[in-house]
Amino acid sequence: MKVQFTETILRDANQSLIATRMPFKEFEEILPELDKAGYYSLECWGGATFDSCLRYLSEDPWERLRKIKAACPNTKLQMLLRGQNLLGYKHYPDDVVRMFVKKSVENGIDIIRIFDALNDIRNIEVAVDETLKNGAIASGTICYTLSPIHDLESYVKLAKEMEKMGVQSICVKDMAGIMGPQDGYDLVKALKENVKVPVIVHTHSTTGLGPLTLQKVVEAGADVIDTAISCFSGGTAQPATETMAYALKQQGYEVGLDMDVLKKINDFFKPYREETLKSGLLNPVVLATSTDALNYQIPGGMLSNLVAQLTAQNKLDKLDEVLAETPRVREDLGYPPLVTPMSQMVGVQATANVLAGERYKNVSKEIKNYVKGEYGKAPGKINKDVQKLILGDEEPLKIRFADTLEPGFEKAKAEIGDKARSDEDVLSYIAFPAQAEAFFDKRQQKEENTVKYSIRRVD
Ligand code: CO
Repeated sequence: MKVQFTETILRDANQSLIATRMPFKEFEEILPELDKAGYYSLECWGGATFDSCLRYLSEDPWERLRKIKAACPNTKLQMLLRGQNLLGYKHYPDDVVRMFVKKSVENGIDIIRIFDALNDIRNIEVAVDETLKNGAIASGTICYTLSPIHDLESYVKLAKEMEKMGVQSICVKDMAGIMGPQDGYDLVKALKENVKVPVIVHTHSTTGLGPLTLQKVVEAGADVIDTAISCFSGGTAQPATETMAYALKQQGYEVGLDMDVLKKINDFFKPYREETLKSGLLNPVVLATSTDALNYQIPGGMLSNLVAQLTAQNKLDKLDEVLAETPRVREDLGYPPLVTPMSQMVGVQATANVLAGERYKNVSKEIKNYVKGEYGKAPGKINKDVQKLILGDEEPLKIRFADTLEPGFEKAKAEIGDKARSDEDVLSYIAFPAQAEAFFDKRQQKEENTVKYSIRRVD
């Protein structure tokens, strides 16, 4: 019996606990040890890392990736990609998606975990195809959610479709930490019975279910689990690597991890953890267990957004009404998984319905676009009356939204001009235009200053 581990310290744990603010220099020194630990993969890129590098850390995300690759030649590097949305929430044309995937692989990525917030397979198809073309591993990802239509059968169907597409593994992504141990066991068992590729489970410790769920999914045959080195584990991050390895070894599983190396890695990050706690970057609140998501069946982040929204409008007394309206809105919209940005969109709509005293009197542009089909196909049926109320006589899209978009790479390249020094720079600009341009300017400035300085020295 064997189970492997994906370490999330550089991406999801970093993102969930300290808003992806860990600079490269904070982990540079430990990379050789991370490379020796025996992980299945090192999740280190994608998600919010790219944005954070450009916006807050003044780092070139591509250069960060290349440096990690150089220091970790023996471990597979993994990234998270939101299918047709790449790293954000808007849809990009296919040429941009293909170029982004190609360059990610060229710069060092071995595994791309590809998901769509609605589990609309059309939105991951191009990214999967390009990943395979470039010889990397495509991991087809299921966004796990609870709803009357998201049953075992629907998940198995999705996994089979992705397997047919050629993905080399299936990942169950439980972003809210709401998958219970028994549900996880049943789901993984069903997947293992119906697909041949390895099954990976990703969860969060938010509700406290995380470690229990990971143990049960391994018993059901999961091949890989996601964990975080202990001093950056728990809470809104993943269960601890060392804890899971210890427990599973005791049960007789071969975990393939070097426990001495894990200790070195953990000891290395301890002072940084202390520093982030002191500075307030790491807030103890995110480390605690919060079971609200289990009571309300909505992710913890969504609940705090609702509370913040109502507090801002001095309407916190309406919270119970909004919480009752939320599942009704979700049902009207065909049960979208409550992952960003759908969680915010559904929450804002439920709030608007309650505060206006009339349902769908005020509708956000985003909800309108969703009902039009611009985010993809709703998992279930959209309520016809609500659709009519929102769209009037306008027909929803019959085709994939990306098919309505003009190619974008060359256009962006011309737009950013000399400031971009490579195709990678152009992709940074496409993904985060303002942040990338500001970064390019700063980079140029820094180099000019260096040149002046060295001329002075020669004088
Ligand atoms: Co996650």
